[in-house]
Amino acid sequence: MEFTFKFKVYDTLHHNHLPNYLICVIKRVLKSYIFYLGVIYLEKLVINGPTRLKGEVTISGAKNAAVAILPATLLINGICRLENLPNISDVKVYCKILETLGAKIKWITDNEIEIDTTGVTCAQAPLDMTSKFRASYYLLGSLLGRCGNAEVGLPGGCNLGARPIDQHIKAFEALGAKVDVSQGKITAKAKKLVGTSIYMDIVSVGATINTILASVLAEGTTTIDNAAKEPHIVDVANFLNTMGADIRGAGTDVIKINGVKELRCNSSYSIVPDQIEAGTFMLAAVASKGDILIKNCIPEHLDCITAKIIEIGGTVEDYGDSIRVRMNKRPNKATVKTLPYPGYPTDLQPQMGVVLATSDGTSIIHESIWESRFQYTFELNKMGAKITAQGKSAVFEGVKDLTGAPVYATDLRAGAALLIAGVIANGETQLYNIEHIDRGYENIEEKFRNLGADIKRVSEPNAKIDC
Ligand code: EPZ
Repeated sequence: MEFTFKFKVYDTLHHNHLPNYLICVIKRVLKSYIFYLGVIYLEKLVINGPTRLKGEVTISGAKNAAVAILPATLLINGICRLENLPNISDVKVYCKILETLGAKIKWITDNEIEIDTTGVTCAQAPLDMTSKFRASYYLLGSLLGRCGNAEVGLPGGCNLGARPIDQHIKAFEALGAKVDVSQGKITAKAKKLVGTSIYMDIVSVGATINTILASVLAEGTTTIDNAAKEPHIVDVANFLNTMGADIRGAGTDVIKINGVKELRCNSSYSIVPDQIEAGTFMLAAVASKGDILIKNCIPEHLDCITAKIIEIGGTVEDYGDSIRVRMNKRPNKATVKTLPYPGYPTDLQPQMGVVLATSDGTSIIHESIWESRFQYTFELNKMGAKITAQGKSAVFEGVKDLTGAPVYATDLRAGAALLIAGVIANGETQLYNIEHIDRGYENIEEKFRNLGADIKRVSEPNAKIDC
């Protein structure tokens, strides 16, 4: 019997600073379990560097738009088609969740599906699946909009520190729903949703999208003030408007939603290119002193990354729907602060961290969105980086080179960053916990291989846990 063992536990032990004796006991229990199961297989990426990445890469559809548009299809009573859907594990999980609710999904190609939501009668999302998955919170807004009630497991997702959903709840309540959070689940019920004015106390991507979802079919007009402006918010609004919704102002900080009676079916929608995947390859070009043409992207969405790359000594050429990034020297030192769009995105912070780890001088990153997004720096230090992270800031004392080492992806973007680090490091890097990367990047190793990286996915038996 073969198992792919997702080794999150091992990693979590080390990052929670548990006492050594406790780590040892937990490992022994795990070890017995592993032998009981039989042979365990771990998937990892083995990367041999250094490589200067050169060539072309095509960007997939945006993960964070896809995981909002998939639940948004629940607001339609009929069939719709989604194109440019990224083929990633988060999308596959979401499709499974929709199927358990009664939707019928037909895969036309690897990146195109047809969803028929006619048979959706159930508003109770499977707790085990939704609680592991952050973006499952969008089921609350869409099921509330469709059925007037929703039950979803308290969302999990990447471990980036506290991830409250008070603004989502505040918006649902303002629209007339009763919300209860207990026993690991969130339940929302409304006899009728009525449009109103909602001021977001914090700029939140998730709360903005969830409020849009809940108000598309509500009675009257909903206004969201202090809304988030990320490209995927505009994409969700574009999708819903294509289906007959009346949403205005998406991409600005005031969004108005005029409730409509129903949405149309039988329309197609193509998901926007992934801003973060494009940015990841831009920073991979810079870190590796390479030359990459990034195709199928929207350069305007990447303005703040372009500005930083120019500041640290790179060259960026805009070709309308593609962008070429070149670098031929060690990056200059820089200070970066993550902010809501159009500021520098937190989801490109770890990838920028790899660039600054080898900068000429001392650089600083301030993380203003998530309280715990520097876990990757401990892994980078294993590769020879000199980074001191404390709270929401990290100081990067630039080193000339990194050296390959076994490292663990602590979350999705940390995984992408460590992959880039493996490409530029001298020698072999073994990157573990790659299921995090598979959640959000389509064919990542193939895309890097096409740019010249020496990278392979290896499945290895592993039952060895030493204390
Ligand atoms: C989205 O998360 C993305 N996830 C994240 O991407 C991204 O890092 C984040 O936006 C910021 O851009 C998806 O789109 C699925 P937020 P979300 O609500 O919506 C606080 C990735 O790697 N907050 O904008 O959960 C919150 O704690 C992932 O692709 C509240 O206080 O983020 C955070 O500090 C990781 N109360 C800040 O707002 C709330 O009710 C921004 O969070 C909601 C949020």
